[in-house]
Amino acid sequence: MPASDLVVVILAAGKGTRLKSSLAKVLHRTGGRTLVEHVVRACQPLRPRSIVVVVGHQAAEVSAEVERLNARAVLQEPQRGTGHAVVVARKAIGHAKILLVVPGDSPLLRPETLAALVRAHRQSGAAATILSAEIADPAGYGRIARKEDGSVAAIVEDSAANEEQRAIHEINSSTYCFTVDQLWPCLAQLKPQNTHKELYLTDVISLLRQRGQVVQAILATDADEVLGCNTRADLAAVDAIFRRRKRQSLMANGVAIELPETVLIDPEVLAGPDTVIEPCVQLLGKTRIGADCRLGTGSILTDAILEDGVTVKPHSIVSASHLARGARVGPFAHLRDGARLDDGARVGNFVEVKKSRLESGVKAMHLTYLGDARVGRETNIGAGTITCNYDGVKKNPTTIGRRVFIGSDTALVAPVRVGDGAYVAAGSVITENVPPNGLGIARGRQMNKPGWASARRREMAAGQKPAKKRQPKKRTAAKSKRRRAKPSRGKSRRKAARRR
Ligand code: UD1
Ligand code: CA
Repeated sequence: MPASDLVVVILAAGKGTRLKSSLAKVLHRTGGRTLVEHVVRACQPLRPRSIVVVVGHQAAEVSAEVERLNARAVLQEPQRGTGHAVVVARKAIGHAKILLVVPGDSPLLRPETLAALVRAHRQSGAAATILSAEIADPAGYGRIARKEDGSVAAIVEDSAANEEQRAIHEINSSTYCFTVDQLWPCLAQLKPQNTHKELYLTDVISLLRQRGQVVQAILATDADEVLGCNTRADLAAVDAIFRRRKRQSLMANGVAIELPETVLIDPEVLAGPDTVIEPCVQLLGKTRIGADCRLGTGSILTDAILEDGVTVKPHSIVSASHLARGARVGPFAHLRDGARLDDGARVGNFVEVKKSRLESGVKAMHLTYLGDARVGRETNIGAGTITCNYDGVKKNPTTIGRRVFIGSDTALVAPVRVGDGAYVAAGSVITENVPPNGLGIARGRQMNKPGWASARRREMAAGQKPAKKRQPKKRTAAKSKRRRAKPSRGKSRRKAARRR
């Protein structure tokens, strides 16, 4: 049921000075997504009337990112603080009863935590409910200052805190629920009374108290969730938490991960039970892996689809490709841009496959490039085979039939076809179609010269002695070349003739 009286405002206009980056803070990535994408996704399950994102720095790029997720962007220009950001969003908030404010830089927040905050706010009837957290190192965060009776008095920013307040470990997560009717008069009262000359949303808390309103803070059960990403170190620490969460969820589904802390898995990746992931593997994008697969160490899979029982041997790269049941690739294979291996097809070391389909049982085991090719079932592609698919202007197709034997070191100059059951002799440069069950052979004919090698060795042995006496360093390189080329008289001339 949509909570039609609830609107979410995500604060995402800040630059993120402490990241020392030309990229806006909320567009930095952690756990495989931008910060703001994590936050928008965490808010969606609340089914609010709308999700409004306040943008400022790199507004066009941030707007594009959030509109893709069906959130609405509102421009804050210039950025005059977190309180000002909510004021700017007022029109977009409209007549909602409850406002949930979430910072765009807290990507670990979970939907359940946000839902609990909204629920607590509704039940208490407070004017504001703050999500707080007890953390070991509260430096940099606003502190929750409480009265003697335990009620919340104010949020004190780190820069304004006295020694006693700095010792408080309960911090403001910057995530709050407000009752809209009580919020607006306080926002109107905000003043830029701080070193940054900004309107701080945190100052609303003491203003509400002065008006006799109830403010409460509820502690997040997992303090990690409220971690903000203000520095590169924060981004890395948060990334580590996301990656651990993802690995743990796959392991809970029956996936084995060796040395899990070395394995990097993006949020949308799926993998089936009894699949084994060896150390230092990366599974990226929308990769989907079946059951009983093995992913070798050092392999990187991006947007790959692997059916059950696929083996990827170490150090293979598989991008935007589909490996059917029982296919085997690698080590050191590169499959990309729509490569497709049917059931049981095999690709070995130093083989690159691009936009090609290898039907079931095909083997291409060594040092090969297959691009824009279709290879029929049970065909064997010899070592060093190359489809010459590019003519300098466009890409051309190569079609190889079923049960074909392509000899090693063959160049197939596309467009070209090799019929079912045909053979291609090793070392051929195939420029014309090979008929079914025929042999294509296209290479220089071999000539043997009996005794040639022993004669050459004798001649070299004879030629070495005089060379020593003659002190060759006085002669120029060009002269000595000419001399060697000229056939000498007598015995050696006869030898030269034999050589020819
Ligand atoms: C803020 C809180 C602090 C809290 C901490 C939790 C204030 C004054 N302080 O501090 O109490 O402990 O978050 O992480 O609110 N933003 C805008 N427009 C602006 C300024 C900021 O949209 O004009 C956005 C930023 O992009 C960011 C969020 O608001 O996503 C928070 O701003 P930030 O500068 O990170 O505040 P902190 O110093 O972390
Ligand atoms: Ca922050």
